[in-house]
Amino acid sequence: MKALVTGGAGFIGFNFIRYILNNNNNFEILNLDALKYGSDPANLKNFAENDRYSFVQGDISNYTLVSELIKGADAVCELCSRNPCRQEHLSSRGISAKQCEWCIHPS
Ligand SMILES: NC(=O)c1ccc[n+]([C@@H]2O[C@H](COP(=O)([O-])OP(=O)(O)OC[C@H]3O[C@@H](n4cnc5c(N)ncnc54)[C@H](O)[C@@H]3O)[C@@H](O)[C@H]2O)c1
Repeated sequence: MKALVTGGAGFIGFNFIRYILNNNNNFEILNLDALKYGSDPANLKNFAENDRYSFVQGDISNYTLVSELIKGADAVCELCSRNPCRQEHLSSRGISAKQCEWCIHPS
């Protein structure tokens, strides 16, 4: 399973990614973060050696970028502080932005 996490360099996103990587070996995480206010790039170093983790610096308002990244995603967790993910990204994949619970407790 692959999860696209947005805002993963922030407080909630970092802790969410850490939890998933430590507790669920079935998940790969792709973190999309613009490294704006609230981000702590030092957080990202914690995952640098984990082969189930990758990072892209970019803005979720970049429709082309998000459309590309979301192609391989089974779940999206939108944890940016602002600019909620455009719904057309999500509905085009038939997935909901409210799947964090599903990531933590996959059936
Ligand atoms: N911190 C809390 O206690 C708390 C509680 C309840 C809900 N929330 C919600 O959780 C979300 C995250 O909160 P947080 O405390 O982790 O915020 P944060 O400011 O610590 O982190 C936000 C992250 O989003 C990134 N970001 C912002 N705009 C972006 C954009 N356009 N594109 C890509 N990345 C972008 C920033 O670079 C940063 O890394 C917010 O929606 C917040 O309202 C937070």
